[in-house]
Amino acid sequence: MFELMDKAPADPIMGITELYNKDTSPTKINLSMGVFKDEQGNTPLLDCVKEAEAKIYATEDTKAYSAIEGFSSFNDAVLPLIFGADHEAVTSGRSATIHTPGGSGALRIVGDFLTKLSPSNTIWVSDPTWVNHINIFETAGLQVKRYPYFDKMTNGLAFGTMMSALKDIPAGDTVLFHGCCHNPTGVDPSNDQWQQISDLIHGNGLMPVLDFAYQGFAEGIREDGEGPLKLVQPGKETLICGSFSKNFALYNERTGSLTAVAADAAAVNIATSQIKSVIRAIYSSPPAHGGIIVSTILNNPELRTQWESELKQMRERIQNMRQLLAETLTAKGVPGDHSFITRQRGMFSFSGLNPTQVEQLKNDHSIYIVGNGRINVAAITPDNCDALCEAIASVS
Ligand code: LMR
Repeated sequence: MFELMDKAPADPIMGITELYNKDTSPTKINLSMGVFKDEQGNTPLLDCVKEAEAKIYATEDTKAYSAIEGFSSFNDAVLPLIFGADHEAVTSGRSATIHTPGGSGALRIVGDFLTKLSPSNTIWVSDPTWVNHINIFETAGLQVKRYPYFDKMTNGLAFGTMMSALKDIPAGDTVLFHGCCHNPTGVDPSNDQWQQISDLIHGNGLMPVLDFAYQGFAEGIREDGEGPLKLVQPGKETLICGSFSKNFALYNERTGSLTAVAADAAAVNIATSQIKSVIRAIYSSPPAHGGIIVSTILNNPELRTQWESELKQMRERIQNMRQLLAETLTAKGVPGDHSFITRQRGMFSFSGLNPTQVEQLKNDHSIYIVGNGRINVAAITPDNCDALCEAIASVS
């Protein structure tokens, strides 16, 4: 009876890469999916990952199931990576990390866990947000509502409007925040604004969820946590979704984490037991390889230093491309002040291009970006930036 169903629309992000792959133009450019590319346009395997894999192949002697929550060598290394080893949430024993299939897997577990906690749960997401957030949470049975986030006039954070909207959210609802490198806008709150957000959220009895998929892509592993981890207040609950797709470039290994922070150690045990029962009903236990790579690197001081240096190189290349993009847009005569691009953080720039311009870029120039105007700056190279900016000039 499959023919009785409607055909599902293409995915708004991955569907664009499907179109790009079919395009035969030799000058085509894919700036849609959030994937880091080097100056040559390749998505590299990090050297630290290659070394870790060599070690794993030399010593691995079983493919027996991992536990529902994954390996403790991974979970025990990732928890302090997120917070720093001496953070109160770690030393108090009131938080626990589990290994998930990617950041998306962690978000889906959060969705199912919240539905279990309260079947009428509503989750509030920023407007705009990563389109798959809505897809994941609605599929898990949550009601999804939006709070304002982006100010089109300043290309910055609509902080006042956002705070007034957050004040009106009923106690008991859940609110999703992006830890850093907001997807799709690249606009993050300042540390002081995070403190105000945190006080409001906990003061009003709301439950924060942090999507921390880009840790290390803004300023550094520790620096990127300074603001958003203010959401973790003593005795209060928080859920944190992590991803190693970007910062370890482990995209296809589907390696992520879910960290539950509870009021105390006894409560985190209960939360973890419920999360495990959610996992058992979806995929039973996580795919191991990516997790073993991450734990091998984090637990080996030399590999870890190497990883941090490779992460820095990726971060700096994106920052250089932001500068180049802003300068080249101006040089090619695209109207407006483009300096906001250098203030946005992470992989993405919310370019302000409208859906008609996005279509023109695709049809006339074989340049592929997401329909909401999001550009993956991490796929711009010194070789494609001129052509990109000339094309944008021609549709502006
Ligand atoms: C993106 O936003 O492009 C990335 O997070 C990849 C994805 O799965 O959509």
